[in-house]
Amino acid sequence: MKPSTSPRPLAAALKDRTEPVTVWGAGFIGLSAACALAEAGFPCTVLDTDAHRVSEINAGTVPLPGFEDVIPLAAARSAGRLRAAAADDPEAAAARVHLVCVNTDRDGSPVTGPLSAVLGAIGRARTGGESLIALESTISLRWLDELVPAALGADPATDTSLHLAAAPRRDWMLSPDMNLRTLPRVLGTARPDSLPLARLLYEAISQSVHPAPDWRHAGLTKPVENLYRYLDLVLTNQLAEAYPGLDVPEVLRLAGTKWNVPTFHPSIGIGGYCIPLSPRFAVDGTDQDSPLPLVASAMDWDGDHPARVAESVLRISDGPIGILGLSYAPDARIVEGSPARRLAEHLLAHGADVRLHDPYFTPEEITALTGARPLRWPDDLDGLGTLVAATPHALYADLPARLAALDNPPALVDNLGGYATALRGTTVPYAEWGTPAARTPAAPRP
Ligand SMILES: NC(=O)c1ccc[n+]([C@@H]2O[C@H](COP(=O)([O-])OP(=O)(O)OC[C@H]3O[C@@H](n4cnc5c(N)ncnc54)[C@H](O)[C@@H]3O)[C@@H](O)[C@H]2O)c1
Repeated sequence: MKPSTSPRPLAAALKDRTEPVTVWGAGFIGLSAACALAEAGFPCTVLDTDAHRVSEINAGTVPLPGFEDVIPLAAARSAGRLRAAAADDPEAAAARVHLVCVNTDRDGSPVTGPLSAVLGAIGRARTGGESLIALESTISLRWLDELVPAALGADPATDTSLHLAAAPRRDWMLSPDMNLRTLPRVLGTARPDSLPLARLLYEAISQSVHPAPDWRHAGLTKPVENLYRYLDLVLTNQLAEAYPGLDVPEVLRLAGTKWNVPTFHPSIGIGGYCIPLSPRFAVDGTDQDSPLPLVASAMDWDGDHPARVAESVLRISDGPIGILGLSYAPDARIVEGSPARRLAEHLLAHGADVRLHDPYFTPEEITALTGARPLRWPDDLDGLGTLVAATPHALYADLPARLAALDNPPALVDNLGGYATALRGTTVPYAEWGTPAARTPAAPRP
């Protein structure tokens, strides 16, 4: 261990916000945290193994397409307190305060490699004084007990110079208003004496901090809150399968008029990395043999959902099948957990002619990621037999008008039902997902 170079007590330097903070990972989570900390006054270095992300940030560009307006990089940089650097930056690694925001999933499964690498680097660079290390990445509780002490080379339960915190994120990244500042922040530490230090950091950037009894309780909060949503969404899709002769979205709208029932819509799949991964993190965190049977059954059923969806689409399709939207969320470039990708793969496995478009991916990326041929928007709409509107990117706002103008428009399979009103009274064959029309050849709108 190198000798400590900072004589100031950590609490004092956190209180007056002069303590340098190192943020590991320049994705949405790390970069937004770094910007918030820099704006709050902390000198902040964000580290990443991705050289492109590092150089873009230092050039003043948010390296995440679609999030330019959500991450306040320009404001943070104008204060002169934010820089980006490679992950082997020795000065940043030797900081006393670290936020760990690296990815803990890859290709739909939890992974530990980036987290281990970062904690190992922090452990090797520690100066011997106090360190505060907050885990913002989504974690399994098992990792807190096993991976964290092994990677750091020290046990936060017994080493009183180590202050470990779990501070999971719950931003809705597509909304500028639902961010780390405005959303209540759950925070827990490995030992109770670390909590005041962690609060000094988080109360500087979050409007409300909810202390948890410890970091295990805080860490489990994240998978649990997403698990509720996951189970609701699986149930929604099960209802659509169970009642193929009913307009299930309409039933759900009616059910949603009850005061404590949210309104869900059946879909071609549950996308993204937070919600589909939540059951895995929740199940992995307990050492029981068959924990959470309800969750296990939902995961089994959901695992077969893409195949069922592909079969339904094939039953109503005729001719080439187009898919609009690869990203699971509108107006963002996120391929993780893409239901459209899974659908394309299953359709191709059945020998279908599949073409896919997404404005956030190049034609080459579309083919490399899905195997489907790129669909040229809007020219190729004419000539398709069926079109699955998977993701309502803003670019597709005039899709109803474009389809209605065609002599022989494809049947539209509308994942979320957003185009129903605009197509009413047109001759475009239309099937909202979850309605009987999505089971039989799509009919012109009445
Ligand atoms: N994006 C969200 O809305 C969201 C919400 C809640 C929680 N989370 C969780 O936060 C974490 C990060 O999410 P994200 O969306 O920012 O992920 P991301 O994949 O976009 O970014 C992670 C970054 O970490 C970098 N990285 C990997 N190994 C590294 C290393 N050794 N050193 C430095 N950098 C390294 C990667 O290059 C990447 O740029 C994940 O655990 C995720 O589940 C994300």
